Amino acid sequence: MERIAVEALARREGGVGYAGRIFEQTQRIIHDTGGQAGALIRVLQQAQGMIGYLPPPVLKTISRDLKIPLSEVYGIVSFYHFFTMVPKGKHVIQVCMGTSCYVKGGQKLLDTLKKAVGLEPEGMTPDGKFSLETVRCLGACALSPVMTVGGDIHRKVEPAGVMEILSRYK
Ligand code: FES
Repeated sequence: MERIAVEALARREGGVGYAGRIFEQTQRIIHDTGGQAGALIRVLQQAQGMIGYLPPPVLKTISRDLKIPLSEVYGIVSFYHFFTMVPKGKHVIQVCMGTSCYVKGGQKLLDTLKKAVGLEPEGMTPDGKFSLETVRCLGACALSPVMTVGGDIHRKVEPAGVMEILSRYK
């Protein structure tokens, strides 16, 4: 693994020991799959399960050790929606910006999250508690605007009620 890059990541993310753990565990995942190119998705899934997301140094290591072009690794990560290259918070907030929710106040929910807890789409609170995503239609248009927190769906959300909803998540 590109240890220096991972150590830089570690300083940002988790301090001493974090780089070593990522380095060893990613190597173990690759070793367990026999380093076969066909194991790419499994390696990516396990690496994301371990780290929480797929930062560039991890993708470079996987590319090198599985002998798969980095562009191909990035292609797979961007194709499958369950892979992410950005860290996620303990509780992921999704605000629906589909047509119905947008018309009924989805943008106001985003504005409230930005104002109240400093969250921007694809961002995360400094304590790592919440991260924010926007999505297109959660299938509950009749009850828009809709947001989810940690997979729980909240319907007809008023901007004034956003903080009360977040307070339920520890
Ligand atoms: S548009 Fe938001 S649930 Fe359908």
